[in-house]
Amino acid sequence: MKVPFGNMKIHYQAYKKELDEAVARVMESGYYILGPELEKFEKEFATWLGAKYTVGCASGTEAIYLALAACDVGPGDEVLVVAHTAVPTISAISMTGATPVFVDIKASTYVMRESELESKITSKTKVIVPVHLYGHMAEMETIMKVASRHGIKVLEDVAQATGATYRGQTAGTIGDFGAFSFYPSKNLGAFGDGGAISTNSEEMYKKLVMLRNYGQSKRYYHDIVGINSRLDEIQCAILGAQLPYVHEWNDRRREIAARYTAGLKDVVVTPVEQPGCKHVYHLYVIQTPYRDELQQYLLDREVQCLIHYPIPAHLQQAYAFLGYKTGTLPTTEHIVKRILSLPMFPELTDEQVDLVIEGIKDFHKERGITFEMVQSARTLAEQSV
Ligand SMILES: Cc1ncc(COP(=O)(O)O)c(C=O)c1O
Repeated sequence: MKVPFGNMKIHYQAYKKELDEAVARVMESGYYILGPELEKFEKEFATWLGAKYTVGCASGTEAIYLALAACDVGPGDEVLVVAHTAVPTISAISMTGATPVFVDIKASTYVMRESELESKITSKTKVIVPVHLYGHMAEMETIMKVASRHGIKVLEDVAQATGATYRGQTAGTIGDFGAFSFYPSKNLGAFGDGGAISTNSEEMYKKLVMLRNYGQSKRYYHDIVGINSRLDEIQCAILGAQLPYVHEWNDRRREIAARYTAGLKDVVVTPVEQPGCKHVYHLYVIQTPYRDELQQYLLDREVQCLIHYPIPAHLQQAYAFLGYKTGTLPTTEHIVKRILSLPMFPELTDEQVDLVIEGIKDFHKERGITFEMVQSARTLAEQSV
């Protein structure tokens, strides 16, 4: 593949010395779970975010689950969320026994359409979960206002947006909680699974610490029902070694995004960065009505593109029991047929980015597809901000 979608091996090689040292330090230490590396990383990550506390856990999915569990969300409760997300956002809600209630998205930035929230709130609504999809934050000011008006908690799904900001505040520090994933390809990734929850509440922090460790307040004293969801010492050491580089990597992602946009803005629909928001481009997603043909054309040129995500959660077989019909979330259903994620990772070279741009331009030129023909996607995007 001339331009792969991601390349963790290159990433490892670039930071091999520091990563190997971090792993060896843990191996030699004799502490592998809930040890000094976790304590250090949780403090450093909280400082980096500008949050009071972070709590490491086993994955982003469980970060969402644990935060919901800390709010005592359970059967009979409703959680407002988007269907255009990685399905694990929804799995975590289901794990609590609560019902996900889907809100449509804005086709400009692909995040929760905050103007729809109010109409979906019922007496059962406990939490709103805005997903900062692709690295762009949701409209937090309005979301927080709606939530406080109704006495509802806000849990930011930050899995794809580590380091993103909204009016100067870092993702995960505005809501009651932020849930992070350290899946390897994320903006800050482990070399295995991992996650964390951020919060400014001491009470919630203490509860989360118990919840992730069988509900124990001290060894063999189980005050609440918990699970095993811990971030192990090796992953903590790896994450701690990489944390100082995340801003640099995010800047490189933004540089790549700017190069893509300059080359493609008159060919396909390119991503929007709302004023006051800093997009960290976990994914760079374009829209074109010729998506499937374009994806194959690029693959033939050894450029690997993916779709995030082809089937929204409300139309997945697993969630058929919720009873959503096609047509209930029009913007979500419209854009999932048109979106395509281009290769995006900090180690991508300018030459590789140019190969992707050239491929997309050639595809449109060879088929006589003008920008006007692509506009049908953009028209809806602009209408639905
Ligand atoms: C938006 C979003 N939420 C939640 C998750 C779940 O994270 P994890 O894979 O670490 O469980 C992911 C990762 O795939 C994600 O992209």
